[in-house]
Amino acid sequence: MNTNETLGTETSGDSLSIPPGPNGLPLIGNTISFLHGGLDFADRLTEHGDVVRYTALGETFVVVSDPQLIESVLVSRNDEFWKGSFEVELGRLLAPNGLVFTEGEQWQTHRSLLQPEFTPERLRSHEASIRAVVSAAASEWSAEETIDLRTACSKLTLSILANTLFTIDLTTARGAVVREAASAIAARTDISRLTYIWPEWAPRTPTQRRFDRAMADLDELIEELICERRQTDTGDDLLGVLLSADAMDEDTVRDQLVTFLFAGHETTALALTYALWLLSGHPAVSERVRAERKTAPETVIKETLRLYPPTYLIYRETQHDVALGGYRISRGTTLQLPAYTVHRDPRWWNEPDAFVPDRWNETTDRPEYAYFPFGGGPRHCIGIRFAMTELNIALTELLQRLEFERITESLTPSPNALLEPGQVMMRVHQRAGDSRPT
Ligand code: HEM
Repeated sequence: MNTNETLGTETSGDSLSIPPGPNGLPLIGNTISFLHGGLDFADRLTEHGDVVRYTALGETFVVVSDPQLIESVLVSRNDEFWKGSFEVELGRLLAPNGLVFTEGEQWQTHRSLLQPEFTPERLRSHEASIRAVVSAAASEWSAEETIDLRTACSKLTLSILANTLFTIDLTTARGAVVREAASAIAARTDISRLTYIWPEWAPRTPTQRRFDRAMADLDELIEELICERRQTDTGDDLLGVLLSADAMDEDTVRDQLVTFLFAGHETTALALTYALWLLSGHPAVSERVRAERKTAPETVIKETLRLYPPTYLIYRETQHDVALGGYRISRGTTLQLPAYTVHRDPRWWNEPDAFVPDRWNETTDRPEYAYFPFGGGPRHCIGIRFAMTELNIALTELLQRLEFERITESLTPSPNALLEPGQVMMRVHQRAGDSRPT
């Protein structure tokens, strides 16, 4: 396949056809299948090929599932694409000046400013703090016996983030404000509910009203946090870097804080939820993690993120007409790179739906972008090392101290803003031999 295609001339571009796709209904296209089909809809699209076009919610989408083309979009031809209006709309709701949503010079300046907060040395300096938060959570969880793992992990990863990057205490009512905002954001941006595209002029829905209230409370909290920090000193954490940056106005500091609070806590909470749920169904793998004692095998984390990538879909938009995979895609089209589908594609993965951490020890000629839980290219996740360190410490510590027993026997994740498992109930027991107080 030619991965270095550009529309050199009008004529060569015109000779290409538009990508194939499912037939839709007049006017609404594939909107109904899109809204109700969930992950199955994305899966069914692959029957049409690796570059597939459909229309929904009045937009044209092109799903790109060939790893080489995904590499082109994210890495080698990234200058032909931008994050796009779909993401800008999300940014407008949450944090328009946050690192996830900006472009060009503003993005570059802020990425360079914040990158030093994620070096290996910086992460090593957070390890003790992460361990302490996880240890406190282990005691709390075993005292409760039955937990909703999804909520418990969210609380845990928020505390870790608050303690390390922002040096603030979010275990109090303040944490509840952030978690309610996260939950209201998830509901508001759930593309399977029409609230995501609800016109501004239409009466507010209950979901939108809840979102507005939650964001107002969050803004108040963030204002307080910034004000408190300004009264002490700037500190040498991420918040300190933001506050002492030249030319970063108050709104931008607020947007970066919101961005990191959400990009950094819900993604990792989901990864930890899925990992613990998978391990509880695979006692032999759990025993191996326990036997390692000091560090959880990276293979377990990688395999979890393969099966359940929290960011299951990456969006880009074409800057101009482009040729991709032999098709013509016009300027302004939204591309979707479906990590969930590609991570389970039988062309690249044996037993694609099975949890097999050992597959990561085998050498294969699988294309690099058959796996991209953290994206790729210049916009790859800035928090990869942070997430891997945090997941490693959390899994090691939690498995040393606790036994997990599934109450929720099966998961049907829903494709909201992130890949949500819903409620995951778990019985938790203190392990024999763990003498730490509950
Ligand atoms: C398992 C955990 C995580 C996953 C799966 C994940 C996934 C991703 C993905 C796929 C992207 C790229 C999105 C795109 O290209 O459109 C991204 C970007 C980003 N992530 Fe993460 N992430 C995780 C953890 C974190 C953490 C812990 C932080 C911060 C502490 C973080 C902060 C960010 C930021 C700020 C961006 C935007 C980077 C930029 O555009 O320059 N993420 N993440």
